[in-house]
Amino acid sequence: MDRTAYLDNSATTPMDPRVLREMEPFFGSVYGNPSSIHSAGRRAAEAVEAARKKVAKAMNARPSEVIFTSGGTESDNIAIQGVASANRSHGDHIITSCIEHHAVLHICHHLEETGFKITYLPVDKEGLVSPDAVRKAMTPDTILVSIMAANSEIGTVQPIREIGAIAHSGGALFHTDAVQAMLKMPIDVDRDNIDLLSLSAHKMHGPKGVGALFVKKSTKISPITYGGGQEFGLRPSTENVAGIVGMGAAVEIGMLSMDQDIERMTVLRDRTIEGVISSVPGVHLSGSRDHRLCNNVHLRFDGLDGKDLVIMLDRKGIAVSTGTACSSRSVAPSHVVAALGVDAQGCRSSLRITLGRNNSQDEVDHLLEVLPQVVAELRSAEATLYG
Ligand SMILES: Cc1ncc(COP(=O)(O)O)c(C=O)c1O
Repeated sequence: MDRTAYLDNSATTPMDPRVLREMEPFFGSVYGNPSSIHSAGRRAAEAVEAARKKVAKAMNARPSEVIFTSGGTESDNIAIQGVASANRSHGDHIITSCIEHHAVLHICHHLEETGFKITYLPVDKEGLVSPDAVRKAMTPDTILVSIMAANSEIGTVQPIREIGAIAHSGGALFHTDAVQAMLKMPIDVDRDNIDLLSLSAHKMHGPKGVGALFVKKSTKISPITYGGGQEFGLRPSTENVAGIVGMGAAVEIGMLSMDQDIERMTVLRDRTIEGVISSVPGVHLSGSRDHRLCNNVHLRFDGLDGKDLVIMLDRKGIAVSTGTACSSRSVAPSHVVAALGVDAQGCRSSLRITLGRNNSQDEVDHLLEVLPQVVAELRSAEATLYG
């Protein structure tokens, strides 16, 4: 296969070789435990603290407000369950949206089983949460509002600054899952009224199995696992030093070119959207035109199954997906696309194309050449079978 294109960067990104280089010593010569007081331990601790500074700086936080975790899922769980258990005496109500990642929705379902009241806000047909709906849902018992910065499937960017301000005016904390948003849009925890923010390194050309949670100073939060005192007691366990170093490097490198990367990805995104819509009949763009991640294209193809498209494109060297990687093996329609008011067939017909900073115009042009052929082949096969 001569031409290939990896266009599934919201599932995960290729690791930047500069990140790997920074990590390498921590798999070998630098093996100390950061909690040890000897020099081997201190070297590891210094590396962890250097990474903490880099992650904090990228979102305008203090290093003491960043804890390292095993990924976006754990960050979401600590944020939501940790705030819920520490603040239960103040209230038992949490507001979120029905299009959150399962890392948020499933911990909310679990909290409901333990007596918490959860409001799952609907979204409009572009996938936007209305700040007014958040305001109306607030009660004196609301302790937390958790709304993602940008959606992993349809790429809709939420008005988080406004929602954060509304949460605060009602006396609640504001958490945002920024796993897909970080480095794809500027994030400033102060300006954006954020108390807790989840990140994952592997979505930013860093390693898998490491993430971070920003917890604003003085936020009342409990750990959800118990052990030693690492990560300010909020995430006990010996640190994943190599992973943490990789995360710090990935964020630092990403920040250096963020503005140019956003510009480039936006051009490629729009070229992809226009290219597919102008060459394929019966195709619909999901999500918002104006409030959209710079790297996200989500399309629905009348009469087709997104999985067939993914398989056919894979045979031609193009990697895309039907939705999020974590549920792409599931047969249930996407809860995100369904929330836009799309019927079950429409949900099944979804194809997500997500760009990364390494993608070239040539890769997009390869997709634009192959996709119309693949759609035509599948449609004619369907017509022969059922027509
Ligand atoms: C919005 C969002 N939150 C959380 C996660 C989970 O992150 P991780 O894979 O690091 O656990 C993902 C992963 O796809 C995501 O897209």
